[in-house]
Amino acid sequence: MTTPAELLDALAEQIRACRQCELGESRKNAVPGEGGAQAKVMFIGEAPGADEDEQGRPFVGRAGQLLRKLIQHIRLEEGEYFIGNVLKCRPPANRDPEPLEIEACKPWLYAQIAVIKPLVIVPLGRFSMSLLLGPKMQIGKVRGTVIEREGQVLMPTYHPAAILRNPRYRKVIVADFEKLARLLLEIEPC
Ligand code: URA
Repeated sequence: MTTPAELLDALAEQIRACRQCELGESRKNAVPGEGGAQAKVMFIGEAPGADEDEQGRPFVGRAGQLLRKLIQHIRLEEGEYFIGNVLKCRPPANRDPEPLEIEACKPWLYAQIAVIKPLVIVPLGRFSMSLLLGPKMQIGKVRGTVIEREGQVLMPTYHPAAILRNPRYRKVIVADFEKLARLLLEIEPC
């Protein structure tokens, strides 16, 4: 029988070969995401930046260091979380993702979610929140709230890059992560 890890690896291989949109031509490396194939939590960002494009790994730049510190703060261990993005390839000059790119790329994210079956998905920032919860939501209003959609629990928060732009976001994001830790204790099967 194929294991979730094998399925996730097979998806990553397909993502690395993807040419569904023109970002497939400009990228250096696709960034499928990384983490546990049976993770409790999936953190979903926006798109790879320059560092991620260079290394083919998600969240390895400055925002990534912040995300990884937040994950450590709530004591999630390797294998318990997965880090990915809405777009698997870097938009040139880090521009916002285009609607057509999101459409072309979203089947990959949905397939990853279907394999991992996380207890909680944490959309990081407005692009991920909007894809997973709908465009009418506003990140400032829904962050830190627990939402159930079609049997899936989600708890959006701001993208950690917000802290780089304005350090005042740190307190709010830390509070959201601490809430996530409490939520996991509540919903984790014994
Ligand atoms: N920002 C994102 O949204 N994703 C990354 O992988 C890195 C920075």
